[in-house]
Amino acid sequence: MQSSLFVQAASGKATSRTPVWLMRQAGRILPEYRKVREKAKDFKKLVKTPELAAEVTLQPVRILEVDAAIIFSDILVIPEAMGLNYEMEENKGPVFPKKITSVNDLRGLHIASPEELQYVLDAISLTKKELNGAVPLIGFAGAPWTIFSYMIEGRGSKTFSAAKKMLYTQPAFSHQLLDMITESTIHYLKAQIRAGADVIQIFDSWAGILAPHQYKEFSLKYISKICDAIPECPKIVFAKGAFFARAEMNTMNCEVVGLDWNMGIAESRALLPDKVLQGNLDPCALYGSREDVKRETKKMLDAFGPSKHIANLGHGLYPDTEVDKVKCFIETVKEHNKLKA
Ligand code: CP3
Repeated sequence: MQSSLFVQAASGKATSRTPVWLMRQAGRILPEYRKVREKAKDFKKLVKTPELAAEVTLQPVRILEVDAAIIFSDILVIPEAMGLNYEMEENKGPVFPKKITSVNDLRGLHIASPEELQYVLDAISLTKKELNGAVPLIGFAGAPWTIFSYMIEGRGSKTFSAAKKMLYTQPAFSHQLLDMITESTIHYLKAQIRAGADVIQIFDSWAGILAPHQYKEFSLKYISKICDAIPECPKIVFAKGAFFARAEMNTMNCEVVGLDWNMGIAESRALLPDKVLQGNLDPCALYGSREDVKRETKKMLDAFGPSKHIANLGHGLYPDTEVDKVKCFIETVKEHNKLKA
């Protein structure tokens, strides 16, 4: 797998063309996914059944012909393994029946051991076997700050003000919980790599709601700790909305930095000269016509240039995106670069 286009690019090496994959490529845009999802009845059953998780992981490789697979799971398996159960409510998203409200609640939590997430590791081993070297496999975890936010809020939020309140009013407790999540995540990601993950991505979906000084203290510090602890494979850090932290991210121990669509490409190159960049087409650009998709994709590719780039969206695919437009995006990336070679 070291020789694959995607791993080469993620390691900072030159490639014959830009590799492409999409965040949330395994999911509701594919009728084939919805079928398996119906069969499994609920989301967690799908995540916890390695055969089904492997099947939906492979679907985008087969149907969309992306250059990498990403293991089908969720970032919320970590709080669950630590002792905080979550439910996935239909059309609503994740909900934690019990949430963390004070230092007393830490008594019910522990640092997760990888054995508690054996179902993910089994799904990874099975997927690797079925991929049979076709494309590499991405493992992933949430950044400690994003996981912390869900554990405190108990669900998604527009402002995440309860989680932010904790940082201001109980910083010592916040650090204690962030440390526990970080330790759990390091063990978990290392186990994913042992099971066969070729590259890992850290998702900091709620990076953008923090002020820069808080982001540094309560998020970047922990992402850095994870990156420092994992020399085994290339690491991608995607911190949605953290445009203010790009200069700091350039010194972090990761090979790739993911950009969202708010982050200017030329400006990001200047702030992150030592990193491979991943991204960053607005997922809404895929609502346009095929011509629109081609034009926007080429514009993005030209702005990044032919090297040190992994093509992706600036965040996950929206479920109502047409498969044909996703294919158009992928084909454009593959062809545009071939013309240049
Ligand atoms: O294809 C892939 O990207 C791999 C699978 C994947 C899922 N979740 C499956 C999923 C990945 C990488 C994630 C990560 C994840 N989960 C993040 C970080 C990335 C991001 O989007 O910012 C976050 C914040 C979560 C938490 C989560 N899971 C939310 C907020 C939701 C509800 C929103 C939604 O899209 O419905 C989920 C559910 C979820 N995770 C779905 C999928 C395919 C949809 C549920 C379904 O099939 O019914």
